Amino acid sequence: MPLQVKRLLLVFAVFIGIMLGLKYFLTPDSWREYGPYRGNALKEIVNQVPKFVQMEDCAACHDSIAEIKSQGEHNPLQCEICHGPGYRHIDDETVKMEIPKGNAVCMRCHTKNAASPSGIIKQIDAVEHSEGEDCINCHNPHQPWL
Ligand code: HEC
Ligand code: HEC
Ligand code: HEC
Ligand code: HEC
Repeated sequence: MPLQVKRLLLVFAVFIGIMLGLKYFLTPDSWREYGPYRGNALKEIVNQVPKFVQMEDCAACHDSIAEIKSQGEHNPLQCEICHGPGYRHIDDETVKMEIPKGNAVCMRCHTKNAASPSGIIKQIDAVEHSEGEDCINCHNPHQPWL
């Protein structure tokens, strides 16, 4: 075998050795336990604390708001869509919830947008419709027509 081929083979051997070494040290323990991902990822996800609770958990204390909300168009909306995650607040009321200010929270869903189906959520042009006024001056956020 010519010398230059031997040298080339040596370079290849070193390179492959480095790659195998890196694979050995850098592959996570549970890789491919169930498929091409870390098996431990499942356990880690299961152990995460859920940040969003359910409307029923809010209704336990805020029964009057839950009651009026249940009678209007906003009935299906989770409280936390507008007030943010409630997992700390339900255990400790001194942890404040967000109270949304301004019209942005409403326009998330009601913006006039030709790309979203208009028959499902009513769309308005904020400038034309409210002329700069706060939506909640005329609509109760918990029951728009109250
Ligand atoms: C569509 C958005 C939206 C949803 C859904 C919503 N809220 Fe609100 N909430 C608001 C806004 C906006 C205010 C501030 C109203 C104001 O400033 O007068 C508010 C105010 C409040 C307040 C404090 C003021 C008060 O009226 O006593 C509480 C408590 C509250 N919401 C609880 C809830 C609960 C409980 C739910 C679910 C049953 C809920 N909210 C669902 C938008 C929402
Ligand atoms: C264990 C009872 C309890 C539960 C459960 C509860 N709250 Fe409250 N919440 C309170 C009390 C008490 C206050 C303070 C009222 C006050 O200061 O007048 C409050 C205040 C609020 C406020 C006004 C802002 C603030 O933090 O003071 C909002 C908004 C609110 N809650 C939303 C929610 C939502 C949304 C849920 C469900 C994720 C929820 N709450 C679950 C008891 C509860
Ligand atoms: C998460 C999406 C969402 C947010 C945020 C939201 N809405 Fe709604 N809204 C709905 C849905 C869904 C309906 C029921 C379908 C409909 O009537 O458009 C509705 C209905 C309404 C209606 C009644 C329309 C009718 O059919 O007569 C009004 C008025 C309204 N919302 C105002 C508001 C205001 C004001 C805010 C902000 C405080 C707001 N919405 C925030 C989803 C949302
Ligand atoms: C000055 C009072 C006033 C203000 C401010 C106001 N609205 Fe209205 N809104 C009304 C009235 C009255 C109607 C019913 C007549 C109509 O459709 O114009 C209505 C209707 C709606 C509807 C139903 C539209 C439909 O096609 O049936 C939605 C959604 C709505 N408003 C959302 C909002 C949002 C979001 C804001 C804040 C950007 C807002 N409104 C501000 C008075 C108001």
